[in-house]
This record gives sequence, C-alpha cells and structure tokens, in this order.
Amino acid sequence: MNQNEDRSALDWEARFRNNDTPWERPGVHPAARNWLESGTLAPGHSVIIPGCGRCPEVAAFARAGLNVTAADLSGTAIAWQKAKLQKEDLSCEYLEGDILGSGDRRWQPDEPADRVYDQTFLCAIHPRLRERYADALANLWLKPGGQLLALFMQKNERGGPPFGCPLDAMRELFSDRLWIWPDPGNIEAWPHPSLNGKPELSAVLTRR
Ligand SMILES: C[S@@+](CC[C@H](N)C(=O)[O-])C[C@H]1O[C@@H](n2cnc3c(N)ncnc32)[C@H](O)[C@@H]1O
Repeated sequence: MNQNEDRSALDWEARFRNNDTPWERPGVHPAARNWLESGTLAPGHSVIIPGCGRCPEVAAFARAGLNVTAADLSGTAIAWQKAKLQKEDLSCEYLEGDILGSGDRRWQPDEPADRVYDQTFLCAIHPRLRERYADALANLWLKPGGQLLALFMQKNERGGPPFGCPLDAMRELFSDRLWIWPDPGNIEAWPHPSLNGKPELSAVLTRR
C-alpha cells in the first residue's frame, strides 16, 4: 500500500509534531458558524467530532453549550485540544485512538449522539474504510433523527489524502434507505483556504 494512501497513526502524529497540517483552517469553519447560528447545532446537543485534530470547532461547540466528544489517533492533537479547553474551563470527552476500529476494538458512544461533525475526516481516511465509517454513523453513533454535518471535499486529482468525496459516491455511501438528504439548493460550496481552494460541500444528512 502506498504510504500516501494509507496514513498510519504514526504518520498523523508526525504531521502534528512537525506542524505540517495544511488542512487546518484559520478559524471556525463558516458552515459550522452557520449551523451554530441556525440552531442546527444547539446547546444541549451531543456532538461527536471524529478526527478532530486541532480544529477550533471542539472549543467553539463546547463554548456554545454542546456536549462534545472529540476523537483522534494523534496524542499530540488530543493534548492540544485538552490544553486549549482547560484554559477556558470547558468540558469535553476525549477519545485518543482509532475511532474506526473493528471487532472488539470497535468504538461506540455510551449513548448515540444528536450530531456528528465531519470536517476533513472522511476525506482523510482511506476509501476502503468508508463503508465501516458509514455503518458506524448510522448504527452506533447517531440516534434516529440525528444529523451528520458533513463537509464533502471535492477534488479531481487521483490519490490522497485528501480523498475526493464526490456527491454521487456520497449518495451511494449514505443511501436514501437510511438517510434523508437536503435539497440540492441547501448544499453549499466552501473553498478551502489552503488546499488549493478545493471546495468542500456542506450538507446536513438526517438519520431516518
Ligand atoms: C485531515 S486531518 C483533519 C483534522 C481536523 N478535523 C481539522 O479539520 O483540522 C484528519 C484527522 O483525522 C485523524 N484520524 C485519521 N484516522 C483516524 C482514525 N481512524 N481514528 C481517529 N482519528 C483519525 C488524524 O489524526 C487527523 O487529525
């Protein structure tokens, strides 16, 4: 397997240690800001952030009164999140490890959550893990009526990460049988400021 296509825990850890993190945005994602303003993310909601890295949404959501579970393979990223939240006396559940483990190592929350926020996580995992992720989202992580707040990375080049998440592939992965998709007019494009302006499509998918 090409190392670029299957990043191990050590690779991600090294990226954080070396501050080699071009996927990071300078602030809270504008789509996340909209979701906070519109009440799609509201105080009291439980929200899981898989592959949180050092994203500022962990603190922003905790500050807004949500019950956040922040998960990442990288100990450095989790330590960074802990230090940041401690400074503001914000609480959060942390999971350091593989959130996509299988068999005995399969992770599930104590209670299914109201929301899952995916920012550059789906596009960071190898596509062969996508089915496992979609299955965990639908059957373990989200309650019925819960929502996946997705930012689907669009790219034309082959390989990754980031791995492209074109809408036709996403519609197959998150099928109509299990998910209610938004109207196409409610899917917005957000160019990424540092990944060559690659657009991310924001979409709120509701678990039936
Ligand atoms: C491209 S980074 C995105 C980080 C963050 N969401 C952001 O937007 O700044 C992908 C993150 O997913 C984490 N990750 C990858 N595979 C994972 C897994 N199986 N379980 C938990 N975290 C994982 C990596 O350590 C990394 O922090």
